[in-house]
Amino acid sequence: MVCLGNICRSPLAEGVLKSKLSSTHFHIDSAATASFHIGKSPDHRSIKVAADHGIDISHQKARAFKLEDFNLFDKIYIMDSNNLKIIKQLAETLEQSNKVSLILENEDVPDPYYGDESDFKIVFELLNEACEKIKFDLIN
Ligand code: 4NP
Repeated sequence: MVCLGNICRSPLAEGVLKSKLSSTHFHIDSAATASFHIGKSPDHRSIKVAADHGIDISHQKARAFKLEDFNLFDKIYIMDSNNLKIIKQLAETLEQSNKVSLILENEDVPDPYYGDESDFKIVFELLNEACEKIKFDLIN
């Protein structure tokens, strides 16, 4: 799961998908395209909306996307089209590029950083629905 800062959207996406899939069978992680929040915990509003749904993301720490991630992961879900472009440009092979897609079909997960709690609730609902689809596609 990849977004700009790895403190708002992708930590939530990581937590939501982890809540739906067995950690024995799936390795799920998140990362940033930008480096300004590396090492930080998720935004308190992401922690709150996750906790409201019984999901603890407070232990997560932001990290940068690294080239090795193309080989470590089968699927790389991106929160918006700007970051999709950045990650696609980093891909060195068609196989790597083909692993990368928007988490929503043809739509950005809106950046809630400058918003309020209601924006984080919208992001949660979008990611919850997207992760249900990911789970469905993996299991079927
Ligand atoms: P994220 O949100 O990409 O969902 O983690 C943002 C976090 C930080 C900033 C922008 C978006 N920022 O400008 O610092």
